[in-house]
Parts: sequence; C-alpha cells; structure tokens
Amino acid sequence: MNTTIEQILNHRSIRQFKDKKLSSEQIETIISAGQAASTSSYYQAYSIIGITDPEKKQALKEVSGQQYVENNGHLFVFCADLQRIYQSQPDEIQSAMRTNLQSTEFFMMSVIDATLAAQNCALASESMGLGICYLGSLRNDIQQVNDLLELPYYVTPLFGLAVGVPKEDTDKKPRLPFQSIYHENVYVNNQEAVEAFDETTKEYYQLRGSNTREDTWSSQIGRKLKTPMRMDVASFIQSKNLNKH
Ligand SMILES: Cc1cc2nc3c(=O)[nH]c(=O)nc-3n(C[C@H](O)[C@H](O)[C@H](O)COP(=O)(O)O)c2cc1C
Repeated sequence: MNTTIEQILNHRSIRQFKDKKLSSEQIETIISAGQAASTSSYYQAYSIIGITDPEKKQALKEVSGQQYVENNGHLFVFCADLQRIYQSQPDEIQSAMRTNLQSTEFFMMSVIDATLAAQNCALASESMGLGICYLGSLRNDIQQVNDLLELPYYVTPLFGLAVGVPKEDTDKKPRLPFQSIYHENVYVNNQEAVEAFDETTKEYYQLRGSNTREDTWSSQIGRKLKTPMRMDVASFIQSKNLNKH
C-alpha cells in the first residue's frame, strides 16, 4: 500500500484542535490542492470563504451549535458558485445562459465541483499532519450563513471545513462492507451486508476510546431521519434563483 492510500484510509474527523492558527502558506497550499481537483467542464463553479473575523466565527458557531466551528486553526466555508461564470459573460450571453444556471443540472454541477475541491483540501490538510471536520451544521440556518457571508445570487453556502492541529486522538470509524457499496453492472440491494455492518458498529460503539454507547449504524440513521430536518433549504436555494427546473 502506498503512503497516499495509507493516509486516505487513516482518516477520522477531528473535533478538538490546539490553539494554533494555520499560516498563510498552509492556507494557500490547502486551497491550491482544492483547486487542482477535476471540475465540470472547467467551470470551477465554487468559492471558498475563510473566516478570520472572530465575530463572524462566533455567529457561525451559534448557527452550528458546535464549539469546533469557533475553536480551530482555520475555518473554510465551501460555496457552490455559478455567479462567477455568469459575471464573466457579456449581457447578451448572460440573458441566454440564465435557463442553464437556474437548472437542477447546473446546481448539481456546482455542488459536485465544490465538494471535490473540499475533499482535496481535506486530504491535503491531513497530509500536512492537520485534522479536519466537515460542518454541515452550518445549514442549520442557511439563510443566516448566506447573510453573514454576503453571498450574492447564484452562490450557496454548502458546508464548512474546520482545520487545525489535532488535540485529540480519535478512533477510526468503520465503514460499510465493500459488498454494500460496490455493485457490478446493476444495483444490488444487499441487506445482509448492512446487518453485518450493524454488528461491526455495535462493537465499535461499545469498545471505542470515549463516548461508548449501545448503538448500531441503522438505529443511528433511523433516529436522525425520523424527524424532518432543514426543510427551509429548498426554498432558500430557490430564492437564490437556483435549482428551479
Ligand atoms: C458534508 C459533511 C458534513 C458534516 N457535518 C458535520 C457536522 O456538522 N458536525 C460534525 O461534527 N461532523 C460532521 N461531519 C463529519 C461526519 O459526521 C463524519 O465524517 C462521519 O461520522 C464519519 O466519521 P469520520 O469522518 O471520523 O470517519 C460531516 C461530514 C460531511 C461529509
């Protein structure tokens, strides 16, 4: 196994960071790695906002309810961004391209672009000995995040990425069995693999270093999904003139 694969397989989210800010060189390296990701049709349809203003960081922590949104080496917010490609065009093309930009297809493309860049940033950070945690919790109040970051039409906040020097040594979380994720030629619903995974996760939650509990993967998912969450996201996205048809 090469060192890149070893590093990828060694991933775990980090939620406690030492009080040490990332240097501007580190930030530039991480962003360059993000930008090196493949991007749909060369659109590069995303923006990454670094949060250095302590008041904004605190406000984002309030939205997320998670301490590590404030206490980290650096906080990045990844945005799907179709505004830049819109602005790059003369008026006559802008009016013709609106139908595309407001489509589900283009919204998906920008979300995919942003997410690929983010994962490159995450891997680059981990390769530098830093820890990371993605932060979907910023969508607890997507409108407020939008307003705090002054995002224009066609730009949507997706998630945060907290990066910093790890202050904790966490256990690696098991993943679904290969047979559950990888299908050949056609989709196969493999419930046995999920049941096997429930046994694996039961043991993981019983034996891990901290916060042990009686739980399985599927009961955890069930608890989360039985209550509707973030139902305001759809209307917010439409208010940005996105995902309309
Ligand atoms: C898009 C995305 C959003 C996430 N949002 C949060 C979050 O808001 N808070 C958090 O503590 N972890 C968050 N996570 C981390 C996941 O909980 C974590 O990746 C998952 O439980 C697997 O654990 P591991 O990363 O340690 O392997 C997020 C992960 C992703 C990919």
